Amino acid sequence: MKKEKEKKWLANRLKRLIEKMLSGMQVVVVLCLQFGDTAKGKIVEILAAFWADIILRNTGGPNAGHTFCVNGKKVITHLLPCGIQHSHVTNIIGPGVALDLIALDKEMQQLPELDFKNLKISHEVGLLMPFHVLEDLMSKRCQKIGTTGSGIGPFYADLAARFVFHLNDLMNPKIFKSKLQEYFEEKENYFKTWDKAKIKQLIADKKPELARFYDEEKVFNKEAITEYYLNYLGKKFRPYLFDIIPYMEQALADGKRIVFEGSQGALLDVTYGTTTFQTSGQVEIMGALRGTGIPFTKVDRVFGTAKAPNTTRVGNGPFVTEFGGPESEKHCSDKTHTEAWEKEHYHFNLDELLEKAEEKGIDFLFGILIRILGKEYGAKTGRPRRGGWLDEFALKYAININQAHLVLTKLDVMTGVKKLKICIGYTYMGEPMWLGDRYLHHRERLKNFTKFSEILYLCDPIYEELDGWTEDITQAHCLSDLPLNLLKYIDRLWKLTSTPIDMLSVGPDQLQTIVILSHFRLKMAIWRKKLHL
Ligand code: IMP
Repeated sequence: MKKEKEKKWLANRLKRLIEKMLSGMQVVVVLCLQFGDTAKGKIVEILAAFWADIILRNTGGPNAGHTFCVNGKKVITHLLPCGIQHSHVTNIIGPGVALDLIALDKEMQQLPELDFKNLKISHEVGLLMPFHVLEDLMSKRCQKIGTTGSGIGPFYADLAARFVFHLNDLMNPKIFKSKLQEYFEEKENYFKTWDKAKIKQLIADKKPELARFYDEEKVFNKEAITEYYLNYLGKKFRPYLFDIIPYMEQALADGKRIVFEGSQGALLDVTYGTTTFQTSGQVEIMGALRGTGIPFTKVDRVFGTAKAPNTTRVGNGPFVTEFGGPESEKHCSDKTHTEAWEKEHYHFNLDELLEKAEEKGIDFLFGILIRILGKEYGAKTGRPRRGGWLDEFALKYAININQAHLVLTKLDVMTGVKKLKICIGYTYMGEPMWLGDRYLHHRERLKNFTKFSEILYLCDPIYEELDGWTEDITQAHCLSDLPLNLLKYIDRLWKLTSTPIDMLSVGPDQLQTIVILSHFRLKMAIWRKKLHL
């Protein structure tokens, strides 16, 4: 009973602090400043619970993953906006999303307790089709990048080629059929070159829901696609369609509070992300707004989530601060290294490992331990996420692109680690290479972050070391509940990035969130701790 009362009190307090932090604001964007998986879903959900009228998901597609609880049941969603369980909030899937209706249908079926009356889908959204998914899974290039295999690359390639099916087309059978006819005329011969045995295996192992579209001769059965899309999916989703641009215009005029929910992370962005290990969509600030009719000038606050003191990356690609370097990248690209596998193969505890690490240097094993402690396995694929130290050099680049304030997440994972590192720059260790307007020389310190993987793979991190903390922080609700060393860590990061840190997350629950409000309050908390007040 007391617990319930306390929870209510804490929730009210959190709501008040959020109101104060966002006072006078109307449009907020939440996006990730690293490689995705930085708990932005949790932040969006908090805003849905305590502040927003509208949550608008407008980037990425079924490649994203968000884990949350509905009535005590753990649910993983990929396409539904993160405010979906809050009936007072309108949840919108915007035109910037790569919408796989089969995946969305499956997600909705997983949640029979929700009525989805608060869901709206832009009639202009592009459809990610079964052939995109199989093309992704079949392609060598996608193996190399380590994609999620959900069809993102092929969908965006078609979008750029202006070969896209819109949700609105499903309501107009003539248009849909003629587009499908045109599509197959162009692509059928290409599909026929695919190895049939391999496709069948892929469908059986990974995408059984696509079996209904398979054709022994032509690979895809056009009639089966037409029938399913027009007669099942089209009918099912018709009630959700709406015209987003006038709707948002009105919402702005009515003073509605709007949250744009990002997906993936700025360092995976198709333009700004680390080449070529990117997703194919625009997942920075401009991508979040794309096609919604809301210009950048209307955005009042961008919250950029970042994990600290450790950070993660899923899939391949450069990761300068990775624990265990290339050994870790190789290990994590093996899909059999699941959470259960790692737990079974590595029996150690933190103290034992830290002792080893002191002898040998922080390495591959440390990365595995932090992964297990942080439950760092992909929500979409179950793949182990590669771990590494917070990279302030890359973070600053992402902050600047997005004009973001920081939200630090998963701070609790590194409790107990005595020495923490922050990467503050890179030294280039390769042969001289042209970069921008000049040669970059061996052992030269980079002046600015670069997205070129060929260079990043040859960079060594320059670290600054800080003291860690041993106190449990998962029950902390305000700055004064936090240990001095953590407060100093936050203060240091604030200075290094010259960026306000607005919120901290110390656990998965909504109430495990601290709102900072100002640098002065952080300074005061440090001062009081020092004086044992
Ligand atoms: P794709 O988006 O499936 O094409 O994958 C391209 C790259 O982005 C791969 O390295 C993926 O692991 C990564 N990626 C895509 N979506 C996410 C995400 O939601 N979180 C983290 N990484 C992602």
